[in-house]
Amino acid sequence: MIYDKLSKFPENFLWGSASAAYQVEGAWDEDGKGPSVWDIYTKIPGTTYMGTNGDVAVDHYHRYKEDVALMKEMGLKAYRFSIAWSRIYPNGKGEVNQEGLKFYDNLINELIANNIEPVVTIYHWDVPQALMDAYGAWESREIINDFNEYCITLFKAFGDRVKHWVTLNEQNVFIGLGYGSALHPPGVKDQKRLYEANHIAFLANAKAIQSFRKYVPNGKIGPSFAYSPAYPASCKPEDILAFENYEELNNYWWMDVYVRGEYPAIAFKYLQSKGLAPTIKDGDIELLKAGTPDFMGVNYYRTTTVEANPLDGVGEGKMNTSGKKGSTQDSGIPGVFKTKRNEHLEATNWDWEIDPEGLRVALRRISNRYGLPVLITENGLGEFDKLEENDVVNDDYRIDYLEAHVKACKEAITDGVNLIGYCTWSFTDLLSWLNGYQKRYGFVYVNKDETGDKDLRRIKKKSYYWYKDIIATNGDDL
Ligand code: BG6
Repeated sequence: MIYDKLSKFPENFLWGSASAAYQVEGAWDEDGKGPSVWDIYTKIPGTTYMGTNGDVAVDHYHRYKEDVALMKEMGLKAYRFSIAWSRIYPNGKGEVNQEGLKFYDNLINELIANNIEPVVTIYHWDVPQALMDAYGAWESREIINDFNEYCITLFKAFGDRVKHWVTLNEQNVFIGLGYGSALHPPGVKDQKRLYEANHIAFLANAKAIQSFRKYVPNGKIGPSFAYSPAYPASCKPEDILAFENYEELNNYWWMDVYVRGEYPAIAFKYLQSKGLAPTIKDGDIELLKAGTPDFMGVNYYRTTTVEANPLDGVGEGKMNTSGKKGSTQDSGIPGVFKTKRNEHLEATNWDWEIDPEGLRVALRRISNRYGLPVLITENGLGEFDKLEENDVVNDDYRIDYLEAHVKACKEAITDGVNLIGYCTWSFTDLLSWLNGYQKRYGFVYVNKDETGDKDLRRIKKKSYYWYKDIIATNGDDL
């Protein structure tokens, strides 16, 4: 629909920005923190861009007051950050590390004192290494209780002050890259293990939500799903079918289970025929149905265009982690779908297609299918930025990207989507897991690169002032 007048953003709209513990904190072994899988994995040669890791990251652990002061000056309404499980439980379970809890307690209080609503992500990929060693982390049902205990500790400690919670960040990504393409820890390529671990993560997610109802009865909770809505490459019927395959296997496979407690039937049957469907035990479906979310958290960066793929067609492709435009290879599942570069869209230097309309499509699909409110938990542009003389960063391309996406949000609200907030990725620059420090996302430039010998000073980019204005006017001028 094309409207001549757009609805306003709600008065209490959460204009936010986001980060994740491993990508910003540093202090990887300080104050009693135990190692997470990422602390170990990034030290294995060849796993990350130029061997980068989060040992120091952007030192948010020591500089959080300075970062929060920058948020306050901007007028930020919400800050989404994650808690490092192994800061709270150095061994994944057992004794709580009080110093770890204290750090987040201080951060939460600092945010509230500055009128910024804390939005907590419980898990952003950094499972304690101790649990990986003990039982293979997400591959064992033991993790369901350990995760639940960790969640209850957080709910009890912070539930009085934190109202919006995210359970698992991008389960589809940490399981997909961890067990499908071997790009994330534990570096496994095994589709059967992927679907089994994924099912266990669903159960852990549902159990945590069940506990939440008891400990934080007035709070809101949901997962953050990395939603890349699909388009068919053409109106050829076989491409439409490929598009349906992609949505069912790559998107509804996750969102249907979160919201309905059920796997999409045709995708399940297909995986069964390949011997890949997860093992469903007595009580699993009941648990899934009992632990459903209040909102769908969406991390949106791009759409995916797909076409038919013959049985002897394309399989795994190469991901662009260098910023060399055009180095991404198409990928797919033979007999199911394959990706295709969308010639109607511009792409970033990392080959991520820029598609604000796709965000509106994503919001509408979720709204129609599930009838849930949506919280955009991530949206942003990863690009090379140039620090110019006198500490200036002219990131007009980021302003263009964000402005178009915020406008798409406004259109979706006009369509009737119940959108409760929009968090950009990210507030400060940070470590991009596989892409080092050169792929920047922040409103605040951090003087740090792959060599690690810079002073980490914070510099406001042009986009910082742009977002400040959007927040001050509640997006009215768009
Ligand atoms: C999401 C993650 O996948 O996208 C973030 O939740 C991540 O942690 C962001 O940094 C951008 O991805 P990348 O690979 O460019 O860092």
